Amino acid sequence: MSAPAERVCEIAVIPGDGIGVEVIPEGLRVLERLAEQSDGRLRFNFESFPWGSQYFLQTGRMMDPDGLERLQRFDAIYFGAVGWPDVPDHISLWGLRLAICQGFDQYACVRPVRLLPGVPSPLRDATPERIDWVVVRENSEGEYAGIGGRNLAARGPQHEVATQTALFTAEGCERIIRYAFELAHTRKRQKVTSVTKSNAQQFGMVLWDEAFERVRRDFPDVETEQWLVDAMAARFVLRPETLEVVVGSNLFGDILSDLGSAIGGSLGIAASANLDPQRRHPSMFEPVHGSAPDIAGQGIANPIAAIWTAALMLEHLGLHDEAAQVMRAIEATTAAGIVTPDLGGTATTREVGDVIVAGLG
Ligand code: NAI
Ligand code: MG
Repeated sequence: MSAPAERVCEIAVIPGDGIGVEVIPEGLRVLERLAEQSDGRLRFNFESFPWGSQYFLQTGRMMDPDGLERLQRFDAIYFGAVGWPDVPDHISLWGLRLAICQGFDQYACVRPVRLLPGVPSPLRDATPERIDWVVVRENSEGEYAGIGGRNLAARGPQHEVATQTALFTAEGCERIIRYAFELAHTRKRQKVTSVTKSNAQQFGMVLWDEAFERVRRDFPDVETEQWLVDAMAARFVLRPETLEVVVGSNLFGDILSDLGSAIGGSLGIAASANLDPQRRHPSMFEPVHGSAPDIAGQGIANPIAAIWTAALMLEHLGLHDEAAQVMRAIEATTAAGIVTPDLGGTATTREVGDVIVAGLG
């Protein structure tokens, strides 16, 4: 009998749709390898859930009605992607991903933007030193609060109306801004940039600005900036080296983080964490990308986003050495040019996974 494992991590796995089922297994192989190399100090128990668009087509539900109760016992949720052409996107998104994020109040969405060695950026002067910041996206309210409705359809298609209301609460703004400041303490530069559109959105975003004012007083050592989102989109491209921690609302964080991942070379490498920083519920870790129906089933999806996401999960679980090992193995792989077609290479999903697994330790 081997010695009892010192640390057991219970992980719920939801591969979901499309390339989710191709990239998540690569992340799992990386985690398994870390456990193997730990001499019994670390173990992962994975339980996989079949939820997603196929499940919806068979059962009429994206996930089981008691899904959140079943997920609650896990230390973390490792998620692939949802969305498939047979199911309307708003049903698949609200039925699974947003149901978990909102149900578990995972209010901090953290998306690092980095240029990995050997990866070409569409920016002319990009280097790994200049491209290194993190987007903190409010993940529980804002523009994606789901408040609104459609009415007056009976008057005919030309006359139907819809409202989509953004929700900003003082508490919601404060907690995400506070999270951004705390994250800044872990970064090389202590700097937080708040992104709003307070000139045009005078209620919710001004409430956000006031929360920013209050929270920044608790972090006198952290440099602060407040930018409008349109100007920030340009700054991502023109002066990326000035960015460190960028905090914004749900919609702005969503859009800016996709821009960031494009600057970092590909959506296929962009990782994200949906965190409940208070740890009342499990947090969920997922690549930024979706199910990529255009390349699903071909074995060419880039697994780096999913594997980097696994590294974010390790960080959250307090396994910092293991997370660093995974990042080093990813960097060695991109530096060697062993990459999938989205990064200009010819390697398959599995081949990239193999090289990263072999590079651990
Ligand atoms: P997408 O991220 O699936 O794909 C956008 C483009 O990037 C495609 O050309 C795709 O081939 C490429 N791409 C994405 N990930 C890649 C990877 N790992 N390796 C290589 N290339 C990659 O976004 P799209 O096409 O807008 O959405 C497809 C479906 O995914 C939709 O149903 C959408 O609702 C869903 N979706 C789900 C998300 C989630 O589960 N969090 C996030 C975004 C979209
Ligand atoms: Mg997005």
